[in-house]
Amino acid sequence: MKENKMEPMLHKRQRTSWLGKTIYSYEEIDSTNTEGKRLAEKGAPHGSVIRAQVQTAGRGRRGRSWSSPKDAGIWFSIILRPDIAQESAPVLTLAAAMAVVRAIRRLPGAKPQIKWPNDVVMSGKKVCGILTEMSPQKEGVDYIVVGIGINMRQQAFPPDIIATATSLEQELPETVVSGEMLFTAVLEAFETYYDKFMQTGDASLFLEEYHGSLANKDRQVKVLDPQGDYEGIARGINRRGELLVEREGTLSTVNAGEVSVRGIYGYAP
Ligand code: BTN
Repeated sequence: MKENKMEPMLHKRQRTSWLGKTIYSYEEIDSTNTEGKRLAEKGAPHGSVIRAQVQTAGRGRRGRSWSSPKDAGIWFSIILRPDIAQESAPVLTLAAAMAVVRAIRRLPGAKPQIKWPNDVVMSGKKVCGILTEMSPQKEGVDYIVVGIGINMRQQAFPPDIIATATSLEQELPETVVSGEMLFTAVLEAFETYYDKFMQTGDASLFLEEYHGSLANKDRQVKVLDPQGDYEGIARGINRRGELLVEREGTLSTVNAGEVSVRGIYGYAP
């Protein structure tokens, strides 16, 4: 079956036990997250994956757009239907960031880190963004779409992100990066972290590992809080996935939904 712009090619995948058993693969789509929501509304099952070579309306957090040129990166979304409380959903973003870090670490010389909550950075620049969107229901969630964009082959970026974005090929010029291998590695790793998450309903089973990858850890951060900005030292996360920021000897918890955190060491969101 050939891919075309309207109809996805459906793949079956064997290396995971439940994730990506069905993959909707598009040559072109507006946004894999938007398509994920459309498919979820039509009943697509837990673990379905939507992938596209190019997104014409890729979406980022806070209503921003996400540059997704054809075959320059891996653009995909995962439909999840967990039986969890709505407050637990942000932990899935952390699990996705962990999965991307684990997959990128398999490339020789790669040292990716996480910028809480949902960016993967290399040399202080963003190589991957994650957009988690939830459809709530009266009790718990109906479905969650976790969208992951990994910059792979870009040698240049649009002016608004040129200072903060990077790609795997820019960071690892000596390494041949296989998009297929990376995609498979992310799915395998995400399945592992998701299963850990579901055992406890929180991040406790991968908390220490997350801390080992956290670029902000023990660094000064500025919290852009609607109640008033403040600076402090990021000390890590708690099991709910909130950032712990120390200021004047006390720890504040920062919720991803309420504020953004700007590191004061070169990388800005
Ligand atoms: C961010 O850092 O602002 C989040 C970016 C998320 C981009 C990915 S690419 C695949 C999926 N589809 C989208 O439209 N967005 C996410």
